Amino acid sequence: MTDSTTLTADRELKAKHRAMWALGDYPAVADTVIPTLGARLVTAGGVHAGDRVLDIAAGSGNASIPAALAGGIVTASDLTPELFEIGRRYAAAAGARLDWTQADAEALPFDTGTFDTVLSCVGIMFAPHHQAAADELVRVTRTGGRIGLLAWTPTGFVGEMFATMKPYAPPPPPGAQPPPLWGDETHVRALLGDRVRDVDAWTETVRVDAFATAAEFRDFFKNNYGPTVAVYASLADTPDRAAALDRDLDDLARRYDLGGGAMEWEYLLVTARRSA
Ligand SMILES: C[S@@+](CC[C@H](N)C(=O)[O-])C[C@H]1O[C@@H](n2cnc3c(N)ncnc32)[C@H](O)[C@@H]1O
Repeated sequence: MTDSTTLTADRELKAKHRAMWALGDYPAVADTVIPTLGARLVTAGGVHAGDRVLDIAAGSGNASIPAALAGGIVTASDLTPELFEIGRRYAAAAGARLDWTQADAEALPFDTGTFDTVLSCVGIMFAPHHQAAADELVRVTRTGGRIGLLAWTPTGFVGEMFATMKPYAPPPPPGAQPPPLWGDETHVRALLGDRVRDVDAWTETVRVDAFATAAEFRDFFKNNYGPTVAVYASLADTPDRAAALDRDLDDLARRYDLGGGAMEWEYLLVTARRSA
């Protein structure tokens, strides 16, 4: 493939991803399922008043808004600017001021060393080329600056949900890597390499108790979560397969049900500092 063919293919892939994340109602998913995770990352990442903060794949501002409320001078960046409108409304309601910039995590439009702190809450994991995204993350962090990442683990609920949907989805393009790999400590350490120091990594869980039954969980994701909406759309002409995916997602939610529909979803937190 020539460089221009590769560039065109990448542009088409990113346009597809943008359209997918604009499907459904991602802000409703963030509000319903993970409203606490952005603030958790801001605390773990150590945002201080006056820090120049970049939130990569910020969505509707789940981490950006608490980072701004902590005193950061925040840029919320994302591939899908359709999510910014509601993010702006949330920020205004919270009294937070921040900039919103459309940006592909694999080609960030910022100078080297611009930010004191770079965060991503279940965000950068969805850029398909992990090393390219990690290189950009490190590049825009100043020497001595902080990096804070939160990603779903491959063996936790969301990792299993993606594994459940995979056989029903169109095959990913060559070279695209599975998002939950960013929830594997060894993988993330290798991506960041020796360009970072003081790396700390640990897992935690978030309690999700918004759904009383497995079917409630499945229908909510089917209607609102872009990747799930997209898989079901691809099954529009094969109702048997759509029904089989319904059953598989229900089974998954039932396996995680701790009683009354409450579940614990596991994620990996990684914090580090940019080396010289
Ligand atoms: C699960 S959402 C997380 C959003 C937000 N960080 C949160 O905690 O709610 C994943 C986000 O990744 C963004 N995204 C996907 N691919 C991207 C890419 N290549 N570059 C930047 N953002 C991307 C999507 O648009 C979406 O907003």
